Amino acid sequence: MSIEVNPQRATANDIRARKGGTPIVSLTSYHAHTAAIIDSLVDFILVGDTLGMVMHGLETTLPVTLDMMILQGLAVMRGSRKALVVVDMPFGSYEESPQVAFRSAARIMKETGCGAVKLEGGRRMAETIRFLTDRGIPVMGHVGLTPQSVNTIGGFKVQGRDPAAAEAVKDDGIAVAEAGAFAMVLEAIVEPLAVAITKAVSVPTIGIGASSVCDGQILVLEDMLGLSPRVPKFVKSYGSLADHIRGAVSAYADDVRSRAFPGEANVYRQKKPG
Ligand code: KIV
Repeated sequence: MSIEVNPQRATANDIRARKGGTPIVSLTSYHAHTAAIIDSLVDFILVGDTLGMVMHGLETTLPVTLDMMILQGLAVMRGSRKALVVVDMPFGSYEESPQVAFRSAARIMKETGCGAVKLEGGRRMAETIRFLTDRGIPVMGHVGLTPQSVNTIGGFKVQGRDPAAAEAVKDDGIAVAEAGAFAMVLEAIVEPLAVAITKAVSVPTIGIGASSVCDGQILVLEDMLGLSPRVPKFVKSYGSLADHIRGAVSAYADDVRSRAFPGEANVYRQKKPG
């Protein structure tokens, strides 16, 4: 396998330099085709471990494996040319030690050609973030609601509602930035806390259920396009693709049943003799 290095593609350093500037636009993608559609419209594409829920119908991201992330990361790299591609490190692939994290992250970078990895956790992951960044792996942090910890958090709950909890999440954000992360996702936290972290850290914050004050925003593509059966309150709908798909498939089914499809334009003719 050869990995093409495209000088046109945005890097982690380009994203880091956008602190306090024009808001950074990002979306998830797990496929070559959706990556190709969004590539020139966003600043970075996240191959999120939400692929477990979106593509595979899982209830949580916990069963997602390194192999699944690498397969879809490679697809997104093939489909895109311009946006930075960040690949999520799945549950169980990095928490044990910085060394385990390095081995997993190195596999992701080597086998997909992506430009950065993302991992969940604040102060507890600071040593690992430092270990990876010191060894050439750009890391995006993720604090607030960290879905891989759903079983210890006790559900997909908004974080930082009381002052002590908010202080802890802020400390997490500061620790992640000080450890060398080039940016961090702030997920499902109360708005004033997102504002406070954005002011306190020197790297861009990327909000999802956070605040418009963040340095950028991210959404799961299928959620904002109306393809997901249930979405959190923080999702704004920008389309209703499920309705379009239902309409198109029912028109196709009618055509097949009435023999209107395939039509003249869709069939092959034999060459005329002579
Ligand atoms: O996995 C994912 O899609 C994410 C986003 C929700 C930020 O981490």
